[in-house]
Amino acid sequence: GIRVIVCEDSDAASRTTADLIADQLRERPQSVLGLATGGTPLKTYENLIELHRDGQISFAEATSFNLDEYVGLSGDHPQSYRSFMNQTLFSKVDIAPERTHVPDGLASDVPAHCTAYEDSIQSHGGIDLQLLGIGHNGHIAFNEPGSSVDSRTRRVDLTDDTIEKNARFFDSPDEVPREAITMGIATILQAKKIVLLAIGSGKTAAIKSMLFGEVTDEVPASFLRQHVGVTVVLDAAAADGL
Ligand code: GLP
Repeated sequence: GIRVIVCEDSDAASRTTADLIADQLRERPQSVLGLATGGTPLKTYENLIELHRDGQISFAEATSFNLDEYVGLSGDHPQSYRSFMNQTLFSKVDIAPERTHVPDGLASDVPAHCTAYEDSIQSHGGIDLQLLGIGHNGHIAFNEPGSSVDSRTRRVDLTDDTIEKNARFFDSPDEVPREAITMGIATILQAKKIVLLAIGSGKTAAIKSMLFGEVTDEVPASFLRQHVGVTVVLDAAAADGL
């Protein structure tokens, strides 16, 4: 079953998540980390940067694969997930830039790029620890409701709900891309360990469905119940009413 850790606030939940990633790096410095974007992991990344500055962890031998990227945005675009990762984590730790992987939003042949991304994960031995957030509708990465349990890295349409939620990072909702490249559910389930972090009362309904509802493609996160190595870290607000 899924291990659930409830923390008293978002600082503690982020710290707990960072510690799980730090443990992984200490156990195996060559770890392949699956990383996530969004508001949720920001404090976790700050904690990892501090642990690195204190000499407690190193990313020097690590490799990373991010979950997803917007189609149509270059890595230099301020709202691209590549640029988010460079700014919030990669430029502040000792990870080798060439060992950081984020799907290319400007790939000319998207299906070929998605296949190559999957192959690259496999050729690095698979993901040791995958960090996840969760969308209000139960999506993981950009696997929106309806995503198959067998899905792999592919091009997807974003739902209106997701576009609206993510519009806060853009000047206007019109600027939010309508499509993305995302790891699939099967890609994510292949990770050896998975850590899902959720912060705030807005995520409670999605967490409830994930943990206690039906395992269904209507709640993509519910497929995590088919995995034996999942830890869900919640702050008190996200856990309230479970
Ligand atoms: C985005 C991302 C997800 C993320 C989710 C929640 O659309 N593709 O990977 O987990 O939405 O985002 P936030 O952490 O900002 O609530």
